[in-house]
Amino acid sequence: MSDLTGRTALVTGATAGIGRAVAERLSAAGADVLVHGRDAGRGAELVAAITARGGRARFAAADLTDAADVDRLATAAGDVDILVNNAGIYELAPTPATTAADFDRHLAVNTRAPFQLVAALAPAMVKRGGGTIVNISSTAAGLVAPIGAAYGASKAALETLTRYWATEFGPAGLRVNGIAAGPVRTRGTEPMLAAVGDAINQVTARGRIGDPAEIADVVLFLAGPTSTYVNGTVIAVHGGERSLLPG
Ligand SMILES: NC(=O)c1ccc[n+]([C@@H]2O[C@H](COP(=O)([O-])OP(=O)(O)OC[C@H]3O[C@@H](n4cnc5c(N)ncnc54)[C@H](OP(=O)(O)O)[C@@H]3O)[C@@H](O)[C@H]2O)c1
Repeated sequence: MSDLTGRTALVTGATAGIGRAVAERLSAAGADVLVHGRDAGRGAELVAAITARGGRARFAAADLTDAADVDRLATAAGDVDILVNNAGIYELAPTPATTAADFDRHLAVNTRAPFQLVAALAPAMVKRGGGTIVNISSTAAGLVAPIGAAYGASKAALETLTRYWATEFGPAGLRVNGIAAGPVRTRGTEPMLAAVGDAINQVTARGRIGDPAEIADVVLFLAGPTSTYVNGTVIAVHGGERSLLPG
């Protein structure tokens, strides 16, 4: 059982979907949670829900497409023991329909913001002799599909960064790992899932898409004290996802 009492966690994109489930899971394990997102109403609602259960949480807003806003978020966070880079966007368009601005937005939210947060927060973790970072990637980083190249590239870069950071900060006591998530039902994917219907269930050997809590359980494992020899790894959490390519 992971006990995170006395630990502070920053969870980006915690106002919805997987991030919300992660914030709730880390809080239930005893962590003080900084809930990040853009939507102040959903942020306040989650903080109230955590507080009502006896947990400790606060909300910080930041638009991760804005590098200065990410720096402000890092300052607002202060010293954290656990950083979960979860916030992400996935506009799954064909390449010709993806503008330079679309590409930049994927890189800014999915890759640059985690880079900035690690650069800002890891040195204090090093000074304190430890900390854990969990990056939420996607099976799209390794599997290919006829759409979503910009998204896949942004997550592949995040996985490369995960291995670099594990090597860079590992000797100082930090652990940096990732999760390559398969299809999960969230606020963001709901419209997509409604459009493809039951066909999406055939994508996984489990015959169903995942629940945010099933990702949060693995984040808790990676963030907590029961994974002390796990570093620089990206764990696939996808119910046995099959390639989208024929054959
Ligand atoms: N769901 C899946 O099937 C799936 C599969 C593989 C990987 N993933 C990854 O898992 C992570 C979470 O996905 P999800 O499905 O839970 O997403 P979601 O339901 O769409 O929620 C996204 C979260 O990220 C925040 N966010 C988005 N753009 C932002 C920006 N510019 N600045 C600040 N915050 C921003 C949102 O904040 P606000 O709502 O407050 O704006 C929200 O809290 C993403 O990194 C995604 O790539 C998801």
